[in-house]
Amino acid sequence: MKAYCKSARHKPLLCYNLGMPSAADPIAIYDSGVGGLSVLRAIRELLPQENLIYFGDQAHVPYGQRSMEELRALAEVATRFFIAQGAKLVVVACNTASAAALKQLRQSFPEMPFVGMEPAVKPASEQTHSGRVGVLATPATFAGELYASVVARFAQDVQVHQSVCPGLVAQIEKGDLDGPETRRILQEAIEPMLAAGADTLVMGCTHYPFVIPLIEELAGGRAQVIDPSPAIARQVKRLLEAGGLLASADQAGEMRFYTSAEPRQFSRILKQLTAIQSEARALRWEGGEIEQVKGNAMLEPIVHRRSIRKYTDQAVEPEKLETVLTAARLAPSGNNKQPWHFIVVREQERREAIARVCNNQTWMLSAPLFIVAVADASERNPQMAELPMDEETPNWELKRAIRDTAIAVENLLLEADNQGLGTCWVGFFTQDVIRPLVGLPRDKFVLAVIPLGYPAEEPNPRTRKPLDEIVRYEHW
Ligand SMILES: Cc1cc2nc3c(=O)[nH]c(=O)nc-3n(C[C@H](O)[C@H](O)[C@H](O)COP(=O)(O)O)c2cc1C
Repeated sequence: MKAYCKSARHKPLLCYNLGMPSAADPIAIYDSGVGGLSVLRAIRELLPQENLIYFGDQAHVPYGQRSMEELRALAEVATRFFIAQGAKLVVVACNTASAAALKQLRQSFPEMPFVGMEPAVKPASEQTHSGRVGVLATPATFAGELYASVVARFAQDVQVHQSVCPGLVAQIEKGDLDGPETRRILQEAIEPMLAAGADTLVMGCTHYPFVIPLIEELAGGRAQVIDPSPAIARQVKRLLEAGGLLASADQAGEMRFYTSAEPRQFSRILKQLTAIQSEARALRWEGGEIEQVKGNAMLEPIVHRRSIRKYTDQAVEPEKLETVLTAARLAPSGNNKQPWHFIVVREQERREAIARVCNNQTWMLSAPLFIVAVADASERNPQMAELPMDEETPNWELKRAIRDTAIAVENLLLEADNQGLGTCWVGFFTQDVIRPLVGLPRDKFVLAVIPLGYPAEEPNPRTRKPLDEIVRYEHW
């Protein structure tokens, strides 16, 4: 079994042990996304000597709307991954996954100690003066047996008000801790509780402690907020002590972060939320298992990029648009002719007209903007401007311009993905109908229309021909 162990210089290394847990093994922390970082932060504060591995399953965030069966399956796979990393204890730092899967995890992995989240209804019931407490959690947490049993055991003498805060997890995943939308969601969640007299608010989702400052501002002194993560850290310490597995205090523990989505995006939010600077690593779901995307920085965005055909209405920030266009600008081209132009289209009516001529692909309109990629043969050779610039042309300069522009478009698609944006190459149109919509003369060729925006869908698993079907060696 792989595990962390100490070299002579007390640096944890990946090595093999015989399956017996040791004090130098890491504590594993699991969440649907970045929420469990609130628990990691508390563990780090209490136990700075411990090695920590963190997995945010951002490919499946938010967990709150997933079925119990699916959550159990995801948590089991994550636990197997942690065992392969030599973890000595697993913290399910997600209330939703704890509610759905903790009992089963303990049955499936009897050797592994688990610490899970349960809504802090008990301390809230003890601390309330008004006899009314508010719990903020996801629908799946409220639906689970764990919540019902906690309320039945500890909240018999108090009134419990609940709110599911729709959309709050997604806002925190984006790092939006106090923008207008986050404020609106929280205002709508807590105002009725406060109006009903609640003086104690429980964070029943590990994402929510990151908005405690905003909650406190909105509550304006009317309620205290309970963050369960310090208590979870204490429980981790108790369990490790009991098992003789506490790491020795003479070294600073190392931390390693994994995400099943975009590592750079994860690292950015990690730094924003916790001030920890670390390059997250990518894990990929493949056939119901997770595997590491190994040290291949370029393959990562290539693997992650998919055609997106459903977008949120969130606008694309100008800096991100500029970065995406810069990726296109830096593409290679024959003789460095750079025979390309990009037209950014935001106007609703123009986008509607374009979507219509793209075989009426109305899904395109959910994206807040389109980029029209134009191949320009006259950039390469002005004399060619006289030859037809349509799909049937024998114009070889146009073909070269198309080749070069296609490279620029692919750069653009990859950088968009890197920025957390979605795209799709749309090529279903003819030149004569699309050109007039963006005011292009007849000597230009529209290569692609690219809707750009924040993805609102998870694409199906990708299908590709196997390598041995497309690669030959030495000759055909
Ligand atoms: C030249 C070209 C034209 C395309 N045109 C369309 C299109 O009109 N509509 C669409 O939904 N997808 C279009 N696509 C997207 C492909 O269907 C998609 O890339 C392919 O199915 C592979 O899926 P992936 O991009 O998610 O890996 C186009 C892709 C290319 C390269």
